Amino acid sequence: MADPTPADWRRTDAYLSETLLERDDALERAVADQEAAGLPAIEVSRLSAKLLQLLIRIGRVERVLEIGTLGGFSAIAMARALPDGGRLVSIEAETLNAEIARRSIARAGLDDRVSVIVGRAADVLPTVDGPFDLIFIDADKESNTVYLDHAARLGRPGAIVVVDNVVRAGRVADPATEDEQVAGVRRGLEMLARDPRFDATALQTLDAKGWDGIALAVLAGSDEATARVVADPTPEDTDPGARASGH
Ligand SMILES: C[S@@+](CC[C@H](N)C(=O)[O-])C[C@H]1O[C@@H](n2cnc3c(N)ncnc32)[C@H](O)[C@@H]1O
Repeated sequence: MADPTPADWRRTDAYLSETLLERDDALERAVADQEAAGLPAIEVSRLSAKLLQLLIRIGRVERVLEIGTLGGFSAIAMARALPDGGRLVSIEAETLNAEIARRSIARAGLDDRVSVIVGRAADVLPTVDGPFDLIFIDADKESNTVYLDHAARLGRPGAIVVVDNVVRAGRVADPATEDEQVAGVRRGLEMLARDPRFDATALQTLDAKGWDGIALAVLAGSDEATARVVADPTPEDTDPGARASGH
């Protein structure tokens, strides 16, 4: 079979979206307002938004931190999946984006559970109170390691961390690229691999947004249930008693 063309993967994305997703007017209107205001169409795909919603349900998430609001599409999607009493805090550097997002969030009836904070995330994050159960990182890629560091601090043990746009049309694996955003993505992935606070993987996506991907991580916890999954475990890794007894 030939390699897929953009037309192939867009058609497949449309098929999966039409087959699996219900139309959500609040989300469609948020995208329409974002477009009318001249904001770029860089929100997550509908299917990725549904993945975020499922992670919230699977992880019994009640408190979400988002870095990078744009026009509120992913914030609305995630807030819709929260249980009663759930809260979402989203940080956005651009005042116009935050205004558009707040309007769409209010129209969706979610302003009681969603707060949009305007400011550069690196300045705002030190003022944010955790803990959060899920952290979605989707802003300037150059700062991914800074955001991951805050995520590790603000997330509860076992919290879910999602980092968007980690493939960037394959440039992440192209040694010739000098793109600063790609360099930021790589630093973030290397941090996820080496920093013992995270256990992570990444998946490529081919969808309406093109060729990209997400990294998904769980924060280390204080108990065995949230301990890092290790390849080729040693007896110490599988049997805590072995370590204590020196085996
Ligand atoms: C990819 S868009 C977010 C898309 C949104 N999460 C969604 O899926 O609907 C990235 C957003 O991050 C914002 N941003 C960029 N740098 C930022 C920073 N340093 N602090 C906070 N927000 C930033 C941009 O203005 C833009 O709105």
